[in-house]
Amino acid sequence: MLNLQEHTVFMWDGRAANLVDQAALPITSPREMNMDLDELVLRLRTIPVYKSGFSELYSDGVTARNIQHAIAGFEKTLVSGVSDFSEWVAGNEQAMTAQQKQGFQLFTDPQKGNCIACHHPPGFTDNGFHNLGLENVQQENADLGRYNVRPVAVLKGAFRTPGLKDIELTAPYFHDGSAETLESVMDYYIEGGRHRSGVSPSFKPLDITQQEKQALVAFLKALTSRDAGS
Ligand code: HEC
Repeated sequence: MLNLQEHTVFMWDGRAANLVDQAALPITSPREMNMDLDELVLRLRTIPVYKSGFSELYSDGVTARNIQHAIAGFEKTLVSGVSDFSEWVAGNEQAMTAQQKQGFQLFTDPQKGNCIACHHPPGFTDNGFHNLGLENVQQENADLGRYNVRPVAVLKGAFRTPGLKDIELTAPYFHDGSAETLESVMDYYIEGGRHRSGVSPSFKPLDITQQEKQALVAFLKALTSRDAGS
């Protein structure tokens, strides 16, 4: 949920176009909170702290839209802080180690990591959808991701490109949580995926050494906020 203002689509399959719309989805989803929005409004109106708080902020008090708006407003405050990488970008040469700088080079090199093809700074996302071969899209019960929202063949098994700031702190990784560590994410990219059917053309097995893999991981850790946890 970090740095959501750097995204223009929300949820792994992008089915929400903005944060206010998104906020209703987990509340009402039968798999998550399974709550009827009208019922929620009635309940919150009986709780004095919400009743008065909403009245202070919104002329029409507690409504479904205002609940969503308030949640979106809170989410926008969840922003990554200064990192070794952002300090380095700002001009402090010493802010990243030699290994982290090498990692950044590999991240941007089309012949090496080519990560930047999809993870564009500053948000490290292209706000696009790509199939990285995590799902077997031939299988009946596979999660087809973006295809569920836009049924176009190339979007089968494609998921939203996540941002990478503070990525060190948000394991497990991928939409199915199948990678426990950044090293295992890198092993996955080196291998070139579990299922090769319909994968994104920019997603190819990587030709990098163990030392280069470690440099990429070191670079990803340079994206961690220095004040994280405080
Ligand atoms: C073809 C586009 C593309 C390329 C190239 C790419 N990524 Fe990704 N990345 C994605 C997408 C899409 C996801 C989410 C996939 C999913 O979960 O189905 C992702 C997920 C990740 C995650 C997990 C994020 C999370 O919150 O779970 C990390 C870390 C990551 N990528 C790092 C990298 C690195 C490092 C490289 C270069 C070696 C790279 N990516 C190359 C598109 C790409």
